[in-house]
Amino acid sequence: DKGNHRHFMEKEIHEQPEVISHTLAHYLDFANGTSKPLDLPFDFARIDRLAISACGTAYLSGLIGKYWFERFARLPVDIDIASEFRYREMPLSKNAAALFISQSGETADTLASLRYCRSQGLLIGAVVNVRESTIARESDVTLPTLAGPEIGVASTKAFTCQLSVLASLALKAAEARGTVSAAEAKAMVRQLAEAPRFASQVLKLDAQIEKVARELSHYKHVLYLGRDTNFPLAMEGALKLKEISYIHAEGYAAGELKHGPIALIDENMPVIVIAPHDRIFEKTVSNMQEVAARGGKIILITDAKGAAHSTVNTLETIVLPDVPEIIAPIVYALPIQMLAYFTAVFMGTDVDQPRNLAKSVTVE
Ligand code: F6R
Repeated sequence: DKGNHRHFMEKEIHEQPEVISHTLAHYLDFANGTSKPLDLPFDFARIDRLAISACGTAYLSGLIGKYWFERFARLPVDIDIASEFRYREMPLSKNAAALFISQSGETADTLASLRYCRSQGLLIGAVVNVRESTIARESDVTLPTLAGPEIGVASTKAFTCQLSVLASLALKAAEARGTVSAAEAKAMVRQLAEAPRFASQVLKLDAQIEKVARELSHYKHVLYLGRDTNFPLAMEGALKLKEISYIHAEGYAAGELKHGPIALIDENMPVIVIAPHDRIFEKTVSNMQEVAARGGKIILITDAKGAAHSTVNTLETIVLPDVPEIIAPIVYALPIQMLAYFTAVFMGTDVDQPRNLAKSVTVE
């Protein structure tokens, strides 16, 4: 039932404050400011690497997870697209653990990667949304996302719930490895707890985002740029846009612009820049200047500080609430999804059932 929404995708975007909240509450002890005990088959303090493997949007959540595990827990992460991982015969450390991420829990390539890791003697965790799925069954521990059933083919709420699980797991790893103090852990829990409230605020920007989407629907190509955790988000934005609106889109690390894609920039190629005012904001501003100097039209997604400090003319600036760095990927995922959604609505595509795509990809 879509309730009073036009599409399941719209409904699922709007469910995010609630399902993110449920998911975080499953993993975090808000009262004590710690992660909750988990029955993990491996000890984060003892492993020396974490291998993550997934497909599509789930892979991109894992890529954001890599930044978190490495930054907060000093735990090196090898992450792969499952269809590559399963055939590339990667040497795996005996002290590694493996993590698989899948909304459906049935994705063939992810399952094959899991079985490969199993054959190599690794202990396995699965971040899944469907708890009675093959991937859940074949793993040593199931780490559920509590997104509820996701009907729209384009993944939205499952993605932000995957991020919620991965942030919580990175915190758990950091606690176990002694890379955060109790006070720092408390602060992280407090910041994560605020994600649902900020997500609700972002949903209220729908009129502005719809306006930007109307503009986007007139173009054939769109480029998304971001640095750090906004780089995977740029790829997620591009993936969402192409799969439901059929507009060609690419997501790039902003620093890679001058190594190739800058050749594409002209007035026919809007560039969506995802850049909260963080440590590396100024670096992204210089990338925007490179775009502007070549006639590129910029749509900047930032916060009030970023809007004030950006010295470039933008076609539109979407100003999000000022959020702590750890929850930025969760909060910034929403305007990215909304932009793709409204653009697809303007294009008149079948938003919930885009052509050629299936919700669960059980063949390789
Ligand atoms: C994108 C999308 C796909 C899936 C991918 C993995 O919106 O829905 O890219 O993320 O097929 O599916 P799961 O998570 O079920 O393994």
